[in-house]
Amino acid sequence: METREKTPPWQWNELQQIGTDYASEEEVAMYDRRMRKIRDIDAENAGMLDFLRLPPDGAVLEIGTGTGAFLRTAAKRCARAAGIDISEVMLRYARSRADEEKLQNLELSRAGFLTHTFAPETFDGVVSGLAFHHLPDVWKAVALERIHRILKPGGRLVLLDVVFDWKSEAPEAYFERIVSAAGESRPNFIRHIAQEYSTLAWIMEGLLTRAGFAIEQKRAAGDFLMLYCAGKGL
Ligand SMILES: C[S@@+](CC[C@H](N)C(=O)[O-])C[C@H]1O[C@@H](n2cnc3c(N)ncnc32)[C@H](O)[C@@H]1O
Repeated sequence: METREKTPPWQWNELQQIGTDYASEEEVAMYDRRMRKIRDIDAENAGMLDFLRLPPDGAVLEIGTGTGAFLRTAAKRCARAAGIDISEVMLRYARSRADEEKLQNLELSRAGFLTHTFAPETFDGVVSGLAFHHLPDVWKAVALERIHRILKPGGRLVLLDVVFDWKSEAPEAYFERIVSAAGESRPNFIRHIAQEYSTLAWIMEGLLTRAGFAIEQKRAAGDFLMLYCAGKGL
């Protein structure tokens, strides 16, 4: 991919496979069905859009767009809905779903948190759902600075991800409890905890604040899924 050739050799290679590999369109369609069973995607998307308060002539970017569910809803609310993802398979699936709905203002390209090349102050809103844990913490910090830069003054970020917070519980007991309650998603949860880079709530909040964001809302779903709504300020 051409963006990789332009990146410095010390940069995290965000194209490497972390955790679940969505290698075929059939697997991606299965992911879509599984997510619709365990998440209220329409309510999630409506909540994110309410927080973003995008102007009708505004622009929104989704990073790690996956199947493009958020983007298809967003495209009906603003002038430009851009989505990036590092997975060609996900992008193909998202494109075919967007074409079914004839969404002319929805654009998709292959890039990630660290390799997109959007100009400063391009977007009114940036959204990322369940993708940020693909980056180790240092690179999360870099990614947040890059998001801050491409947001317009007053722009907003919505970040949904698996974030751990075991409070007074022993970490081992906390992880065991999460895995035991996972049902048919047990192998996915095990892989996530063992191989992916989900961080702790207090680290995530520090990262957001250090990058210049003011956390305006924080919603926990269960005790490992967090939605952060944060503003760039004017
Ligand atoms: C679990 S899916 C989430 C998809 C969708 N946002 C959702 O909420 O259902 C994670 C997505 O992040 C993408 N991804 C992984 N690493 C990425 C990176 N460094 N930059 C952008 N996207 C990335 C994957 O290809 C995948 O499509």
